[in-house]
Amino acid sequence: MLTQEENDLLCQVGAGTPMGELMRRYWLPATYDWELEPDGQPQRVKLLGEDLLAWRDSSGNAAFTQNLCPHRGASLYFGRNEEEGLRCAYHGWKFDVDGNCVDMPNEPSTSNFKNKLKITSYKGADFGGITWVYMGPDQENPPGVPQFEWGLVPEVQRRHYARFIYECNWMQAVEGELDSTHAPFLHGRLRMEDDPKYGGYTAEKIADFYIQNTDYGLVYGAERKQADGNSYWRATHFLFPFYGMFPATPIKVPLSIYVPIDDHYTMHFGLEWHPTKELKGNRWPVETMHEAVNLSLGSGPWKPEKKGMFYSKWWPEMSPETDFHMDLETKKNFSYTGIPNVRQQDAALEWSMGPIMDRTKEHLGTADATVIRTRRLLIAAARALAEDGTPPPGSQNPELYKVRSCSVVLAGGEEWLEALGPWFYAKTDEYPEAAGAMTGQ
Ligand code: FES
Ligand SMILES: [Fe+2]
Repeated sequence: MLTQEENDLLCQVGAGTPMGELMRRYWLPATYDWELEPDGQPQRVKLLGEDLLAWRDSSGNAAFTQNLCPHRGASLYFGRNEEEGLRCAYHGWKFDVDGNCVDMPNEPSTSNFKNKLKITSYKGADFGGITWVYMGPDQENPPGVPQFEWGLVPEVQRRHYARFIYECNWMQAVEGELDSTHAPFLHGRLRMEDDPKYGGYTAEKIADFYIQNTDYGLVYGAERKQADGNSYWRATHFLFPFYGMFPATPIKVPLSIYVPIDDHYTMHFGLEWHPTKELKGNRWPVETMHEAVNLSLGSGPWKPEKKGMFYSKWWPEMSPETDFHMDLETKKNFSYTGIPNVRQQDAALEWSMGPIMDRTKEHLGTADATVIRTRRLLIAAARALAEDGTPPPGSQNPELYKVRSCSVVLAGGEEWLEALGPWFYAKTDEYPEAAGAMTGQ
């Protein structure tokens, strides 16, 4: 349980709030890189409560610029992106990617008015198929983009499989990612003998948790002891400020990203990669990626484009109005919820808490240890930044993000961090060897 003050501090991300200032110390994943063409139509985005236009100039530089023109406040969305700048459609004022006003064609040529004018325009950077934005101080000298392994491997070794807007606060989604014991319930099928298409089945619903703070956040191992004396371990990382890396398999390492759009909306990116091997199947050419990206594992089909809104094409049809596609026959006979897949199941429960969950009314148990620890780390880091300018974890160290998760059966009593550490921190590309089979699944 949190106090109201702690809950506000944890969830609010606007400029000037402690968590909003913490978020502004990191590069934020903002769009896919292919959405921004040089000299193409600017895209409406919203991040940390700020309405911005994402665009790319003639030379390919990406920028995230204030939506409203400083002249008489019209939206630059309708402007012309041409010849190294974005020109307002109202009276032709033009701005470069750094926010400098470079032309004011309705003012006398003798005027130097334009030289005095600069607008908010944040730096963009391309990495791993995503265009990132840095909205923090010292725009001239930002930290490095986090060096996740998926951005460093060849493109055929990574796959973007999900992307959609969550209609709830970012922290609800992050907490869902770190909450290990919900999976056998929310994502489960009713009986072991039923078709796995209705969800996983785990006989052992209780796990022992081992949590370790790290320089980038934390890692936790959930141990389920098996009848054969071995233990099934699921190891998950939380990386500041909003990354959840749930357990990998020998086939792929996954990452879930939850970027705050504002206090009530969140942009989710789901992706996966392998350090050395090509990922098979579901590879989409860019032209079909918007249609395809959520269909394999994600949120299902889209709502019609919400013209005029931020991220207008990325609103899923699944939502409270469609009951997240819950099918009552399936719920009665086969799956725990009747909701079609993992992403929709997570979204249904996380959105159902309301736009910002009231954490003054919750009742947490021992299974919530990771959620509790993560909140404490975030709150402490936001306070430390506000009080004495302490940089939050990982913000100055992009190389810390080269991390992998794991799920594996280890011999009973084996020290999990010792056994899994070389894989976690990319000291080896060999997946940790299983001591035996997983049982009771
Ligand atoms: S409102 Fe943009 S140039 Fe006048
Ligand atoms: Fe889940």
